[in-house]
Amino acid sequence: MDNSKSNPTPQLAVDVRNVTKTFGVGDTKTVALKGVVFEARQGELLMVVGPSGCGKTTLLSVVAGTLNFEEGEIDVFGASLHKLKPAQITEFRKRNIGFIFQQFNLIPTLNAVENVSVPLLIGGMSRRDAEEKAAATMKKVGLGEKIKARPNDLSGGQQQRVAIARALVHEPRLIICDEPTSALDSETGHCIMELLYEVARSPQRCVIIVTHDNRVFQYADRMTEMEDGRVRRVHENLARKNDMAGSLVAQV
Ligand SMILES: Nc1ncnc2c1ncn2[C@@H]1O[C@H](COP(=O)(O)OP(=O)(O)O)[C@@H](O)[C@H]1O
Ligand SMILES: [Mg+2]
Repeated sequence: MDNSKSNPTPQLAVDVRNVTKTFGVGDTKTVALKGVVFEARQGELLMVVGPSGCGKTTLLSVVAGTLNFEEGEIDVFGASLHKLKPAQITEFRKRNIGFIFQQFNLIPTLNAVENVSVPLLIGGMSRRDAEEKAAATMKKVGLGEKIKARPNDLSGGQQQRVAIARALVHEPRLIICDEPTSALDSETGHCIMELLYEVARSPQRCVIIVTHDNRVFQYADRMTEMEDGRVRRVHENLARKNDMAGSLVAQV
């Protein structure tokens, strides 16, 4: 069957071409990315898997512009990171990228809603508007009751949800998550995945999730397998595709 008309090539959110990243020199030298080729599409939730040390966090860091790289090219939503100056990359990141780190990186002296407000304040929003929007985002992740709590007074799962709210609050196009469900119980984990799935589906968005958690795959459009600094294989989630076909039919 010829699907070429009904299935045009999806536009890329992230296009990584032959990127090399080395840490250290001499005896301590580690080549973390070995000419990696990697793609994430607009409108998709992409899962990235691979053994510890294979370069997943490094790949996400170069895509997010928090780490420089020696060779290769990276386009993120049309911006060519390899051509931008550091200040331009910082500006691009502020507007377009939301992170959920493995260690949640919350600021301990700020309460939850203040932590979630940070990306909005950096973007120039007034404190009052920022806290209002941050509180609304906290409700979405099920933490409406914990707005004033400090990170140390929250459980691991709750801290992670604060980190997720902070990554979503400024409505970035690309959301990058390093093990986002690891500290969550099963019910909360599924709610968060539903939310991230919805976010990925909004126009001109993309969610990339590094995880060992097999439960994530049911929400993913595709899964990229990494090994030893490269992408080894990409799997399509056909069940997800059928879902989408079903919902398209339902809309018509
Ligand atoms: N800041 C760093 N300094 C030195 N080596 C690093 C650094 N970050 C990562 N590495 C090395 O790069 C390789 C890939 O690491 P990483 O991207 O963290 O893997 P993963 O996230 O898949 O576990 C590993 O060998 C790791 O030890
Ligand atoms: Mg990692």
